[in-house]
Amino acid sequence: MKAHWLDDDKHAIDADELRTHGVVYEALPLEPGGYQPALDDLRDNRGYVTQDQIELRPDMDNLDAICAKFKDEHLHEDDEVRFVLEGEGIFDIRSNDDRWMRVTVTPGDLIVVPEGKYHRFFLTDKKAIRCVRLFKDQSGWTPVYREAA
Ligand SMILES: [Fe+2]
Repeated sequence: MKAHWLDDDKHAIDADELRTHGVVYEALPLEPGGYQPALDDLRDNRGYVTQDQIELRPDMDNLDAICAKFKDEHLHEDDEVRFVLEGEGIFDIRSNDDRWMRVTVTPGDLIVVPEGKYHRFFLTDKKAIRCVRLFKDQSGWTPVYREAA
């Protein structure tokens, strides 16, 4: 995980600072026996019920359409929990004072964007990511876009 302020890329943001803005970050081992106990704890502590995997690849016909849904600022009514197994992605997440925190995730990174927290998501030039997701209810995925101020 690498994170910095979008308006100040010389100032790195670490996991402790992310947490003060409600974002959970943890580095986990990539083997299933390594990460699953931590995901089970997270599920029990935060009330998730379901686990699956999502994969985006450059050869998918609908890749642009999928990415288009998440590139504009939005929130969800459920936490967005992602543990990255392969590839990479970029989350821009609003801080408590409405600045952008740019968080680049790579394999071994677990991130929780809490419900109600504005964010947007992009793939990197690799156009590929595979993640474990945890959630309470699939309906929580529906993006709620931020009104233009
Ligand atoms: Fe999202």
